[in-house]
Amino acid sequence: MTNEKQGKLICVGTGMRMAGQLTPIAQSYIETSDVVIAAVPNIFARKWLQGVAKEYICLLGYYSDCDVEGKNRRDTYRRMADTILAEVRAGKTVCAAFYGHPGIFACISHMAIADARAEGYHAEMLPGISAEDCLVADLGIDPGRTGMQSMETTQFMIYERRIDPTSLLILWQPSLAGELSLKRFDTTAAKLQVLVDKLARDYPLDHPVILYEAATHPLEQTRMDSILLRDLPTASLQQITTLVIPAAYPLKMDQAIVDQLNAMPAMAVVLEQAA
Ligand SMILES: C[S@@+](CC[C@H](N)C(=O)[O-])C[C@H]1O[C@@H](n2cnc3c(N)ncnc32)[C@H](O)[C@@H]1O
Repeated sequence: MTNEKQGKLICVGTGMRMAGQLTPIAQSYIETSDVVIAAVPNIFARKWLQGVAKEYICLLGYYSDCDVEGKNRRDTYRRMADTILAEVRAGKTVCAAFYGHPGIFACISHMAIADARAEGYHAEMLPGISAEDCLVADLGIDPGRTGMQSMETTQFMIYERRIDPTSLLILWQPSLAGELSLKRFDTTAAKLQVLVDKLARDYPLDHPVILYEAATHPLEQTRMDSILLRDLPTASLQQITTLVIPAAYPLKMDQAIVDQLNAMPAMAVVLEQAA
């Protein structure tokens, strides 16, 4: 017996390029749910969703909330999550679709799932292929080699973060670098210079960084432009650009820990592993 109410929420990702990156289970929910609610900017993906969904609600128009005095992106995301919840409360099986992975830099799905569960509805997220997954494949970078740090660009700028320049650093949304009003969808050369100045605390200014844009359909080219860190303020950044900063220095051995491990009796280590 379950106390869950009748409405249900499944958040799915469409991948970066739907053709080939949409998982079979996500496709099944898109095709069979009572309603599909989506914020998918790619026109081809949107047309396909509209075609196969029983009912389709597009959330993209909600971004114009930011034009209203006193409102910002947070209000937009709240209204998007509320729209999803209203359909769940109406007793429907709701499929909320987002491009890439539905839970990576996509707060709407997390908000909607938390709210739905708090109200006693079944809600779950299914993984999708994110920009980061495509980046690893396209750039041939294994995050396991040096480790990886990954964060939103403005968050990196305005908070005290400890950056490890011996690991890979991924900065999301550099096209919004330093945009504190949460109303605009752009940045400026001056704000990018602030970003460069902060990165220069850990990286040389002539360190090569990569502007990465995964192709979102088969006719598009993937962008993998290598530029010098110092040139970032004058680079062309799109809303889909991700900034990839490879490690600047080799990993340095923590000899004290290595010595400590080597000093452990071999038998004790074997016994602990077996326990
Ligand atoms: C709101 S986040 C959405 C991420 C998405 N949910 C995912 O799973 O990849 C938007 C940011 O994702 C990255 N992004 C989106 N599309 C991309 C693409 N085609 N190539 C590279 N990065 C992309 C950029 O950093 C962009 O600013």
